[in-house]
This record gives sequence, structure tokens and C-alpha cells, in this order.
Amino acid sequence: MSESHDIEEYYKIAEELVLKAGKIIENAIDSYKNVQCKGIVWDLVTEYDRKIEDILQKQLSEIYPKHKFIGEETTAEENCLPKLTDDPTWIIDPIDGTTNFIHQFPHTCISVALVIRKKIEIGIVYNPLMRQFFSAKRQKGAFLNGQPIKTSKITNLSESLIAMEPWIAKNSNYLVSVYNRMHALIQGTHGIRSLGTAALTLCYVAMGAIEAYHVESIDVWDVAAGKLIIEEAGGIVIDTAGGELDLITPRIIAACNQQIAEQLTDLFKTADLKAVDENLK
Ligand code: IPD
Ligand code: CA
Ligand code: CA
Ligand code: CA
Repeated sequence: MSESHDIEEYYKIAEELVLKAGKIIENAIDSYKNVQCKGIVWDLVTEYDRKIEDILQKQLSEIYPKHKFIGEETTAEENCLPKLTDDPTWIIDPIDGTTNFIHQFPHTCISVALVIRKKIEIGIVYNPLMRQFFSAKRQKGAFLNGQPIKTSKITNLSESLIAMEPWIAKNSNYLVSVYNRMHALIQGTHGIRSLGTAALTLCYVAMGAIEAYHVESIDVWDVAAGKLIIEEAGGIVIDTAGGELDLITPRIIAACNQQIAEQLTDLFKTADLKAVDENLK
């Protein structure tokens, strides 16, 4: 018989722990952060990334010793691809937007999701600097500071504001493709924004501040909580090519509705074909 789960209780505990961890970011924002480089100039970590992940994992595992964890900094130390099983698994990005945190650019957050039997049950994204607490439970709606949120009603890409992050640095093979996708967006939308925090940007789609977000080469902890928050707010998160998202190796189009998602996949298909042509020249 499969074990029953008290999602409300899990949520309450997670909410309390994330709010407490938010205080660490608040208190540390203008102090020495012991910044280290993880090998590449833009891949940074501070003592607070590790501290928050350790605290959340330790406290949750004291309460739920059978639960599993996938956290950014622990995974980096273990140096292996995270694996998702059917067991309750907390997916933690202790600071999403570490570079923003280092520079005091106030778009930075803690992202925590709970996945059970490969379904995201809880998503929490908290920006303590702007006091934005985004949350969702599966089939229970999405909220910002306790108030329900909905995605934008715009259905034309030409009237949309789109967030996109150039992930070129991680793989220069993508250079032409990313350039062409950005070029297509600049020509066919109200504009592009790039905030340096995947989790919060997903929440901005959920609250209707932007219509869509596109990024690749990110990780499960960047996406898990925000995906549920968008879906519960009425939006969708799919693979760039249009199919279902692979949560472990995400390439995402997050959109306020199906129409915008379809227009974006079409736009990127055309842009990619152009990239192939240009690569062959
Ligand atoms: C990063 C942010 C950024 C995305 C990067 C991520 P981090 O997470 O989400 O928006 O473009 O790929 O690594 O390192 O600040 O947690
Ligand atoms: Ca990082
Ligand atoms: Ca992240
Ligand atoms: Ca992080």
C-alpha cells in the first residue's frame, strides 16, 4: 500500500523554514559573503548558499528522516547528476540569483519544492529583499503573500514582454541559436528582460508581470518550485521543442497560456533553422 502524505503539514513546515532562512539573506545582503568561484568566472558561490542549504536540509531531515534531498550545493560537491525517485524529495536552491545576491541586485530568492512520485506537490519561492513569498500546492492555486495570482491574459506574442537568459557561456555551440532566438524576440515582441534568477522569473510569469520566459542549460532546483507556481496560476512550462519538460535536464519555455507557448515554439523553430543555415555557410 502506498504511504499517505500530509501535504498541508509539509507545506507549513517548509513555509516556516524558508521564512527563517530568508532572514539569513536579509542580514547578509550588505556584509562580507566569502565569494568563491566554482571554476568559471560567472559560476559563484558564497558561504550563505551552503549555509542555507545545510540548514534547510538538516531541519527537514530531522522532521522527515525518510525524505530525500536534491540541493544545488550538495549536488555540486557530490559531482553527479541528481536522480528523482518516487520517494518524497525536497528540491532546494538555497539562493537562486547568487550573482544578484553578491551584487545586492535585489532579485534573489530561496526556492524549495517537494516532489512525491515524480509530481511536484509544493512550490515555494521567497525573495526576502522584496518581501515576495510565492507559493503553490498542487491543484490548490498559486499565491503571492497569501493572495491568489494568475498569469497574463495576453494571447499575442507581439504584445508580450519576454524574459530570456543567454546561456551561451555554458556552451558556445549555442551561440548562433541563442543569438537568432533573441533577435527574433527583439523584432516580434515588446522586449526582452534578463534577471539572473530562474526561479523568480518563473514567478513573474505566474503573477502576470511578463508573458513568458525562455532559458536552457539550467537545473532541476532552478525550475521545480516555479513550474508548479506557474501551472497553478494558469500557465504552462514545456520543453523548448514543444513537448513535456524533462525536470532533470530542463530546456524551458514557460508561458502565461498555450497560445503564447505555441507562438514561441514556432518562433524558435524558425530561428533555429536560420541558425542551421548560418552555421553551414
Ligand atoms: C542561476 C540563475 C540564473 C540562471 C543560471 C542559474 P544560481 O542560478 O537561476 O538565472 O540563468 O543558469 O545557474 O546559480 O544563481 O542559483
Ligand atoms: Ca549556482
Ligand atoms: Ca539557481
Ligand atoms: Ca543557487
